[in-house]
Amino acid sequence: MMVALPSASGGSKVFKCDTNLLVSIVACVAGVVACASAWQWQEATYAAQEHRALVGHSIGNHSGVTQALCAVLCLREGDAQCRSFNYHDTGRTCQLNGARMEEFPESLVEDFDFSYYGAQLEEPYIDLPEFHTTPSASEWQLVFKGVAGNGVKMYDMWTAATWDETTMGVGGSWRDDSLYGAWNSGDLNIARVKLSLCDANIGSGAELIFDGTGSDVSSWFSKDRLISNPWQDLISTATNYFSIYGHPLEDRRFFINRRYGNCVGDYGWLVVTESNSHFDCEWDRSSAKYPYPIILYSRTAGNVQWHKVITEGTDTVGRADYLTIHIDVE
Ligand SMILES: *[C@@H]1O[C@H](CO)[C@@H](O)[C@H](O)[C@H]1NC(C)=O
Repeated sequence: MMVALPSASGGSKVFKCDTNLLVSIVACVAGVVACASAWQWQEATYAAQEHRALVGHSIGNHSGVTQALCAVLCLREGDAQCRSFNYHDTGRTCQLNGARMEEFPESLVEDFDFSYYGAQLEEPYIDLPEFHTTPSASEWQLVFKGVAGNGVKMYDMWTAATWDETTMGVGGSWRDDSLYGAWNSGDLNIARVKLSLCDANIGSGAELIFDGTGSDVSSWFSKDRLISNPWQDLISTATNYFSIYGHPLEDRRFFINRRYGNCVGDYGWLVVTESNSHFDCEWDRSSAKYPYPIILYSRTAGNVQWHKVITEGTDTVGRADYLTIHIDVE
């Protein structure tokens, strides 16, 4: 009895944050530690909605547990109808729910600290031994998630030879080293690469799709590979930077810029600013609220004056909470 996952990337014109990070859990329903026979194992996939929680359907709470253990606890409550859970990363709080958001959409509320995980099931699973899920064959595979403000340079996270979870996995940043390594050594036949900027407050952001044919982990990010982007003028306007490497002296990476003009004359579409080095531009500075790295992007139809992040704020120059890189492998 399985079940297609909701299509995350349909043909819809409005870009939605790709928050369907799937957590695949193989749980031992008889006990967390040892399972003697195969029927005691159960597998389920949960789709996460960040900064959301389901309220009013609580059936139990656990604290001091990992996210994976929370999923296991939910599976073990199968008979007691655990259908989803809310998880708080830093507090390691696990709240089991007896319902899912599909049944009570109005009960899914914004909560910055929690993520909601819904079991990808159509029916509550009563027949535990028969139940089995197969993950959907999603065309987009997540390679990287880089979180703004986590104090680690985005460029370093993306280019590190090997991912170091202890120093880099801060705040939810993540990289799939096997996909990354295979991409870099030319072992993957990559059709397309997707860069998404996610603004959690508006549940949206910007999405750029590149032709990934024959690319490596840096060369895909170039103007001549652009298949789609949210701005009307990017293809037709000259750029002084368009690369992941960007402008190291200024510590501006993933940089798509139109021109420089002494800070207030700086215009562009996208930048990850990692420190305010060399030229001290006001728009480049971090603050207590917005520590480095900072992901800025134009929320207008075209390029923006970066300084407007000071004068006009986030309706004009958006601040993304994180960026993701997905690949579509042939
Ligand atoms: C679990 O904790 C939440 C938040 O404190 C609370 O609203 C809910 O009633 C608790 N559930 C149970 C079953 O105790």
